[in-house]
Amino acid sequence: MTLSELARKARSTRRFREGRPVSRQTLERLVDLARLAACEGNRQALKYFLSHREDTNGRIFDLLGWAAYLPDWQGPGPGERPAAYIVVLGDREIAGAFGYDPGLAGQSILLGAAEAGLGGCIVGTVDRDRLRKRFGIPDRFEILFVIALGEPGERVEIETVGEDGDTRYRRDEEGVHRVPKRRLEDVIVRFPAAEP
Ligand SMILES: Cc1cc2nc3c(=O)[nH]c(=O)nc-3n(C[C@H](O)[C@H](O)[C@H](O)COP(=O)(O)O)c2cc1C
Repeated sequence: MTLSELARKARSTRRFREGRPVSRQTLERLVDLARLAACEGNRQALKYFLSHREDTNGRIFDLLGWAAYLPDWQGPGPGERPAAYIVVLGDREIAGAFGYDPGLAGQSILLGAAEAGLGGCIVGTVDRDRLRKRFGIPDRFEILFVIALGEPGERVEIETVGEDGDTRYRRDEEGVHRVPKRRLEDVIVRFPAAEP
């Protein structure tokens, strides 16, 4: 797949085929991409905690918040939960703040996942205190977000933002998750003082 195809395919996926395992080696390959991402001052302050076993997965799942725009959906049910997670951490011994670095690393992971036939979702709604306690994550590490991963168990389609400008994603009658994206001409701005 070309980068252009991958960028279109790498949609946030929230329902998975839980029974299809994701190996630690696959997770390591994704982190290998993230570690090459651009980062402030090339400090490389991000660290990654990997989970792909049932017991650790189970201790992460209930600490995550899913799809705020789908209030009638409580998150993935049994059998459609993520098969793996990457917890993205900021190492405070390397940097005091982590700025844009997690976003760049996260997108690299999602693109790599799409290339590997996996789906993923960056989850920022995390009960960080309980996650820290459950895994004994030292204070040295700031918990930035969790990336849920697995074989996709849902169809996700891009559509164009309508006249009403509503960017909220929705799930249609067939269960397809639809994500409105603004048109190219609506995100490129022009300023009179810049025109010839
Ligand atoms: C920093 C960040 C935090 C996010 N947090 C959550 C979250 O807590 N729960 C969730 O279901 N999705 C979360 N998402 C996924 C977004 O909802 C998703 O990216 C957005 O709806 C656009 O869909 P797309 O990724 O398919 O383009 C997050 C995405 C980002 C980049």
